[in-house]
Amino acid sequence: MTSDAVVSGPRAILIGTMGAGKTTAGRLLAARLGVDFLDSDELVEERSGKTVQDIFVEDGEATFRGLERDAVAWALEHHAGVLSLGGGAVLDPTTRTLLEGRPVVFLRVGLADAVKRVGLGTGRPLLLGNVRSRVKQLLDERAPIYEGLARLTVETDGREPEEIADDIADELGTSLEESP
Ligand code: S3P
Repeated sequence: MTSDAVVSGPRAILIGTMGAGKTTAGRLLAARLGVDFLDSDELVEERSGKTVQDIFVEDGEATFRGLERDAVAWALEHHAGVLSLGGGAVLDPTTRTLLEGRPVVFLRVGLADAVKRVGLGTGRPLLLGNVRSRVKQLLDERAPIYEGLARLTVETDGREPEEIADDIADELGTSLEESP
């Protein structure tokens, strides 16, 4: 383990764009490991008493990003299970710094599968308008950020969430968790 490696906190942190399957695969992974699952969007909603969509519409994206940053920082300190981050959480520089040395897993998805999985984009304020072109833009902009943060990248195109959870579980204890 390198000297700056983090030994506490989540067992695995899933990142990737909307439609990557973070929540579905994350829940399966947590069940498989016998630990709790936490999703940063759900934590933001619980703490604010509002849906993500309502926060975007009523308070604006900047307010959401602030709430998201605080929720992620809290979860990295207090949650010992599997953590899934909203697709845009890694845009925040403070969050990116907090993720260094952690077991970050990038769930990669291509445009076709991402569009299939988000459907009409209901409940996802950033997809209002043309879902396909918005998803493409987000994939193009963010893939390098996800890649730069990830200790493990898992391809999700055409695959079932169970297989993805299995892949991640297999890596725990090897590349994801370096031994001391
Ligand atoms: C967002 C992704 C969403 C949610 C919000 C913004 C983004 O989470 O945080 O709608 O910026 O990509 P999921 O990736 O879990 O859908």
